[in-house]
Amino acid sequence: MDDKDQPPRRAIKSFVTRAGRMGTGQIKALAELGPKFVLPYKAERIDAEAIFGRKAPLVLEIGFGMGGATAEIAATLPDHDFMGCEVHEPGVGALLKLIDEKQLSNIRIVQHDAVEVLRDMIGTELLAGVHIFFPDPWHKKRHNKRRLIQPEFVAKLVQHLAPGGYLHCATDWQPYAEQMLEVLSAEPHLLNTAAGYADKPAYRPLTKFENRGIKLGHGVWDLVFRKR
Ligand SMILES: C[S@@+](CC[C@H](N)C(=O)[O-])C[C@H]1O[C@@H](n2cnc3c(N)ncnc32)[C@H](O)[C@@H]1O
Repeated sequence: MDDKDQPPRRAIKSFVTRAGRMGTGQIKALAELGPKFVLPYKAERIDAEAIFGRKAPLVLEIGFGMGGATAEIAATLPDHDFMGCEVHEPGVGALLKLIDEKQLSNIRIVQHDAVEVLRDMIGTELLAGVHIFFPDPWHKKRHNKRRLIQPEFVAKLVQHLAPGGYLHCATDWQPYAEQMLEVLSAEPHLLNTAAGYADKPAYRPLTKFENRGIKLGHGVWDLVFRKR
């Protein structure tokens, strides 16, 4: 077989799709609130002003998990709009429940690979900020290539940041924190806001898991870089 006859190689993903069980509250939230707050993935640039019905700084969150931090930050920063990407469906249901409980109007969700959402749906220099909190650390050496924070991805990501826009990453896995610091420092369009790791910005809430880790003496590293 010639090279051209080979099937296209599967791109390396930063996640594996897990069959998660949905709670009844999450199923209900998905059915009732999904049509309003979940945007379908489309290979088409979004019109953020039309979606949110206003002009406001837009922050993209990659991998919001169960959405606890997302909802809390959106409540803390009502003048910002938030687009959260998550592939895990129970997480989408959980964030929808929080949107309802906190009566938030400044969040939209895309249940799809954020790498493709960024590439296909987000315009050049559209974003005021990007949040990547506790991305999967992919501990094993042979899995390191699945980590989101890699030079090629960061180079693409910065194209979608407005000048002065920020990228905020947090992790509790020191080798990944070191990789983040190295990769972000080497990206010519980014400038570190701190000398090395940053203090936790006030808007990022402590998660239960993080609190437990801190009591056990585990570290958490925040990194906040700005586009030049
Ligand atoms: C370790 S969890 C952290 C979740 C949350 N940010 C927190 O702090 O609790 C990482 C999450 O990122 C999601 N994820 C990983 N890669 C993703 C991608 N390319 N697009 C969307 N979600 C992704 C995973 O499904 C998982 O829920």
